[in-house]
Amino acid sequence: MTVTHDGATRTNNKKLLAWVDDIARLCEPDRIYWCDGSQEEYDRLCGELVEAGVFTRLNPDKRPNSYLARSHPSDVARVENRTFICSKKEEDAGPTNNWMDPKEMRAILDEKFKGCMHGRTMYIIPFSMGPLGSDIAHIGFEITDSAYVVVNQRIMTRMGQQVLDVLGDDGDFVPCVHSVGAPLEADAKDVTWPCAPNIDDKYITHYPETREIWSYGSGYGGNALLGKKCLALRIASVMARDDGWLAEHMLILGIESPEGKKTYVAAAFPSACGKTNLAMLIPPKTMEGWKVTTIGDDIAWIKPKEDGKFYAINPEYGFFGVAPGTNYKSNPNAMESLKENCIFTNCALTDDGDIWWEGMTDEPPAHAIDWKGNDWNPGTGTPSAHPNSRFTAPASQCPSIDPDWENPAGVPISAFIFGGRVSHNFPLVYQGYNWEHGVYMAATMGSEATAAAIGQEAMRRDPMAMLPFIGYNMAEYWKHWLKIGRSRVATPPRIFRVNWFRKDDKGKFIWPGFGENMRALQWIVERCTIGAEAIESPMGWVPPYEALDWKGLDFGKKSYFAIMNIDREVARKEANDQEELFTRFGDHLPREMEIEREMLLQRLYHSPKVWDLSAAEAN
Ligand code: OXD
Ligand code: MN
Repeated sequence: MTVTHDGATRTNNKKLLAWVDDIARLCEPDRIYWCDGSQEEYDRLCGELVEAGVFTRLNPDKRPNSYLARSHPSDVARVENRTFICSKKEEDAGPTNNWMDPKEMRAILDEKFKGCMHGRTMYIIPFSMGPLGSDIAHIGFEITDSAYVVVNQRIMTRMGQQVLDVLGDDGDFVPCVHSVGAPLEADAKDVTWPCAPNIDDKYITHYPETREIWSYGSGYGGNALLGKKCLALRIASVMARDDGWLAEHMLILGIESPEGKKTYVAAAFPSACGKTNLAMLIPPKTMEGWKVTTIGDDIAWIKPKEDGKFYAINPEYGFFGVAPGTNYKSNPNAMESLKENCIFTNCALTDDGDIWWEGMTDEPPAHAIDWKGNDWNPGTGTPSAHPNSRFTAPASQCPSIDPDWENPAGVPISAFIFGGRVSHNFPLVYQGYNWEHGVYMAATMGSEATAAAIGQEAMRRDPMAMLPFIGYNMAEYWKHWLKIGRSRVATPPRIFRVNWFRKDDKGKFIWPGFGENMRALQWIVERCTIGAEAIESPMGWVPPYEALDWKGLDFGKKSYFAIMNIDREVARKEANDQEELFTRFGDHLPREMEIEREMLLQRLYHSPKVWDLSAAEAN
C-alpha cells in the first residue's frame, strides 16, 4: 500500500521527493506528514504527546509552555557501541570507530526498516544546521516516526518550510532516516516510549561516502536527533575534510575586554566536563568590565576564509544539556534559559508540577515522581533524575547569547582550547609553541572517566574530544588539522590546553572552576591580543603567577605551584604512553605527531629548569 502525501505542493526538489517515496515504500507508515516548523504545529504535536501520555505538561505558572518526557529505562543515552561508520574500506573508518561493510549493514537495515513504521506517522523534517543560507550551513532532512523527535528538532535546529525554500529545486541535503523500531500492528496499544529495548537491535549508522545517516531502535538524544552528533559531527567531519573546513565538538565563546574589544574562542572538552557551564560563564565580579557571550555550547563549524581568519558558526539552534548539577550557582544563564518553552527528559516531577534534578537546589523536594515514574523522596536512595537527564532549550532564551550568534558569516576565532579531566600532574593552562605542537596537544588529550563498575579512575584518550564523533580515520583527521593550519592562512588560531580538574593529595579539587575559569581565559585572550607574559616550560608556554588576575580570589603562589607544576618523571611516562595510541594508526599517523612527542620528551629531559625554578621560589 502506498500512502499519499502533499510533498509535491511544498517542493519541486526531485531528489528529495524520490527519497521520501523510497523511504515510505520501505517503512510502510500509516501516514506521511511534512513538518512546516510553525508554532501551531509544535503546540499541536505537544498536545498529542500529552494525550498519548508521552509528555506531562508542566505547571504553566512555574514553567510555561514546557513538558516532561520519561524514556524507557533501556533508552537513556547515546549508544557508542552501536554506532557505526560504514565506509567501503575498514581503514577509512580507522581503529577508533566501529566499522561494518556498507553492503552488510544495508542488508541488516533493510530488514529492520522493512515495515518498521506500521501503525505510525512518518514525519518529514526539513532542517538547517546553521543560520539559513549561511555559506557555512548545511541542510538535512530527517524522516522519523517519533513526534518527540519532531518537537525536539524544532528547538535544536532551524526547521520547517523556510528550509525547503532555501533548498530550491536542485539543492543538496543530508538524508537522515530514523525509526524508534517499534512497529504497531493492528489494534496493538502503543507504549509511552516506543524503542527497541534490546541494545543489539539499535543501530546508529553513518555512510560517509554517500553522506547518509540511518538510525534504528532508539528515541533518545544524539541517537535520534540526527542533526546533532550524527550530521553536525560525524558526517560533517567528512564533508569538512573534503571541502577544507572543520566540524568540531566545540563550544564558542565571545570574550569582551573592559576596553570593549571582543575575542572569540572555541573550546573542545569531552562529554561531562562542563561545556555548557563554560559556554555561559559569568566572570567574577572583581574582573570588572570583562564580559562573556555565548555562541554555542557543543558544536562548531569553522571555515578559513580569504582574509586568513577562521570563521565559526554554531550549527545548532538550541541546547540539549545535561540537567543534573545545573543550578543558579553553577550556571545562572542556563537556569534562566530554562524558564519556559523547554522540553525536559528523564528529570523528576515535583508535586507542584515543576521539574527537579540532583543539584538543582540545596534542599531537595520532600516528595517527587522520579524519572521512572515512581514515588521518590530524599531517603529513597536512588537519584530522582537520571544522571543523563536532559533539557532541550531554545538558545535564543540564553541571557548571555551573543548578538552575532546568528550571523551567517560566523565569528572570527582567535584561539582553540582543549581540555580534559585530569586529576594529577596536568597544568591549569598552557599554550602550544606553534600549530603542529598544538595539534599534537589536542590529539593526545585524555580524560578520566569514573568507571563505576570497577570503581577507579581510568584515562580515556579522546583526541580533540572527537573520539565518539569522528566520521573517518582519526589519524587522517589529524593530517587534516595539520594541513588546514598550514596551507590556508598565515596565522591560524593559537592552541591552548586547560585542565580545571586537578586534585590535591587529599583528593580535593585545587581549582574553584566555574566563573573563576575566566582568569585562565583572560590570559588566553591576552596571549592572542597583546602578547601577555609567558614562560617557556617543557609542556608549552605557561603564565607566570603575575600574568593572571587574582583580585577577589584567595589563591597564592603555593596553590598556583600545586596546580601548574609538572613532575617531569610522570610527564615522561605520559608521553611514553602516547606511543600506544599512535601505533594503532600504522601508516596513517602523520609524522609530525611522533616528532612532537619526541621533542616533548627531549624537553622533559633536557630543557633548562626555568619553570621549575620559578615555581620553587613559591615555596
Ligand atoms: C553531548 C555529548 O550530549 O557530548 O553533547 O555527549
Ligand atoms: Mn557534546
